[in-house]
Amino acid sequence: MENIQNIISQMTLEEKASLCVGVGPWTTYPIERLGVPRIFVSDGPHGIRRVIDENQIAQKSLPATCFPTASCSASTWNTDLIYRMGEAIAEEAIAYDVDVVLGPGVNIKRSPLGGRNFEYFSEDPYLSGELAASLINGIQSKGVGTSLKHYAVNNQEYQRFSINAEVDERTLREIYLPAFEAAVKKAQPWTVMCAYNKVNGTYCSEHHELLVDILKNEWGFEGLVVSDWGAVHDRVESMKGGLDLEMPGPQERHVKALVQAVRSGDCEEEILDKSVERILKIIFKAQQTDDNDSFDKEAHHDLAREIAAEGIVLLKNDGILPLKTHEQIAVIGRSAKEAYYQGGGSSHINPTQLDIPFNELRERAGDTELLFVEGYPKQDEYKQEMIDEAVSVVKSADVALLYIALPTSKESEGYDRKDLDLTEHQVALIHAVAEVQPNTVVILNSGSAIVMQSWIDEVNAVLQGWMMGQAGGGAIADVLFGKVNPSGKITETFPVELSDTPAYINWPGGAGEVHYGERMYVGYRYYETKQVPVMFPFGYGLSYTAFEYSNPQVPKAFTDKEGLIVQVDVTNTGDVPGKEAVQVYVHDCESALARPPKELKGFAKVELEPGQTKTVSISLDFRSFAYYHPQYHTWVTEDGDFDILFGASSADIRQSARTTMKSTIELPCMLCRESTIKEWLEDPRGAVVFQPMYDEIHSGLEKMFGGDESIGIEVSDMIVDMPLISLLLFQQSALTMPAEDIVDGLLQQAHNMEV
Ligand code: GLC
Repeated sequence: MENIQNIISQMTLEEKASLCVGVGPWTTYPIERLGVPRIFVSDGPHGIRRVIDENQIAQKSLPATCFPTASCSASTWNTDLIYRMGEAIAEEAIAYDVDVVLGPGVNIKRSPLGGRNFEYFSEDPYLSGELAASLINGIQSKGVGTSLKHYAVNNQEYQRFSINAEVDERTLREIYLPAFEAAVKKAQPWTVMCAYNKVNGTYCSEHHELLVDILKNEWGFEGLVVSDWGAVHDRVESMKGGLDLEMPGPQERHVKALVQAVRSGDCEEEILDKSVERILKIIFKAQQTDDNDSFDKEAHHDLAREIAAEGIVLLKNDGILPLKTHEQIAVIGRSAKEAYYQGGGSSHINPTQLDIPFNELRERAGDTELLFVEGYPKQDEYKQEMIDEAVSVVKSADVALLYIALPTSKESEGYDRKDLDLTEHQVALIHAVAEVQPNTVVILNSGSAIVMQSWIDEVNAVLQGWMMGQAGGGAIADVLFGKVNPSGKITETFPVELSDTPAYINWPGGAGEVHYGERMYVGYRYYETKQVPVMFPFGYGLSYTAFEYSNPQVPKAFTDKEGLIVQVDVTNTGDVPGKEAVQVYVHDCESALARPPKELKGFAKVELEPGQTKTVSISLDFRSFAYYHPQYHTWVTEDGDFDILFGASSADIRQSARTTMKSTIELPCMLCRESTIKEWLEDPRGAVVFQPMYDEIHSGLEKMFGGDESIGIEVSDMIVDMPLISLLLFQQSALTMPAEDIVDGLLQQAHNMEV
């Protein structure tokens, strides 16, 4: 690694400022006299979008493998497979001289309306973080950097450049930051990309608490923070806020502003030097990467198909799948001929090749006759004659395969979905086909959840194919014909209807701000708390075989510091090999602050032959049981019982066991003049100091409010949530000293007490 400090000492102020602003849309500023090369960055996250003309932002790119988008790859629950995807993406980056891949995106799917949900992993932060870390480690294992994005609380496209996300600290820490935290701690991405939006009033690009206090200081992030493209409003404020590199360039005025700010003392040169150091470290790290100007297109295409096949989710199957041998199969739907394999925006890849789903069926269908009709128009319009044509064809067929993809206009970066529906025409087509064809399979392609309540009972099977990447056509055919046993499980809840969704009343905000009023209750955390029925729960997915969970092994007791290892046996009880994503949820039986009923804290994917049993071991640690306390501003654990839940989905808990945790943390005394009776009694120090007085107060109030003159008040319930000071002031006339002095005396004892 170059002697970076030596280089910095030789740099002029102008060179330092220039290095902190891109010199082009995709390149950093080179300093030839000091041997500092440029680096080249390109989008991701599910393939390399290496623009042909490096001075263009949104322009045709070189051919690269378009892997399944995140909602599909996440549904594999297979961290090894995602790691391999990362390796392949890195090989293509190297071939195209790309030093940093701009991905993965780990923003939480707060609402299924999110326009970029296809690019994100899940509604669950733990799963998102684990999958992101796998992808980052896979890419970086080859010496290519990544850009963990979009940091943070960027969960909608509506007004994304300016909207202010108002989110409380506990929700921020428990839901919107953990995926970034886990990825940083487990994979150290070379870069983190700050989001466009504001968080609690401050632009992410200037957010010192997010970028410096939390990301760099608390989590130990060693790389550089890069802006989302065009996210910098004030380069000096963003420099002081911890933003190291502004993109895209050139931005001459911002370079000059930095120089001027240092000269005027508005920005200390030391801050600039720290950014320069972080950028130089990445630049020189990139120089260590082996050169290789080619990659194995076919091998990567096969890998893309493997991932897609494992990410496809079998949502319904009455036994019609896998397809038996048939005389005639009717294939209905334009996405059988025009593969729906990716979304719009910066992640749009120019694929090396593209499976046509119909052709892939043809290759696997043997002597079966395949008929095709388009079924529905390209965009969202209604054409009855297309439905009539489809009905006329399916009548004579043995099976109808309906390939239904959302219009591309419905899902993209830059705007959110307006609804969760298929088009009116598509729904009418499904009804009409199912009415005349008793064997109907629907294959969906969408980036996020779709509501299907109005038609799902009329069809025999439903496959969720997501945006499946360039090899998705073959993957679907492999699943339909049983070459691959589906093992995908949804990583976002499929609601019955849009108005059931957690963010519904707060989405997408207005007057420049959006309130995260549902707090931690996102996805399954919400539906289970509110007991709102869903179409398909988080973690759900069917197989062509079946699995039995048995023999849960959970230690009876543990401490938060030790953590614990939990085990469960999983058996393939069917007659074909299969894979199962085993999920481990934690339920806190009692907590001082409200918590979601369960939270995913571990998972593993196992492959089992018919009759085979494997033991799945999951390690749980402090954070598996802790929650973030907004008064202590840290993660806390509490003595007590937890249920360890082994699930085939969040709603299908197959085995559970109770364990008791001993908390070892020491928290500061938070008691103050406004503390309530309950807070005094629950605080370990406060209880010791206050209990005698409490007993006296309580018995006095019993006499006052109890007995025949009772006014129907239960004394304990009445006073428990009253501030002690208020209670004493009620009785000031009977006290020998001011209530404030009494409380202050107790506070002094409590704050000076060792636990
Ligand atoms: C876009 C996206 C970001 C992408 C960048 C570069 O606006 O928000 O994900 O990496 O700009 O294209």
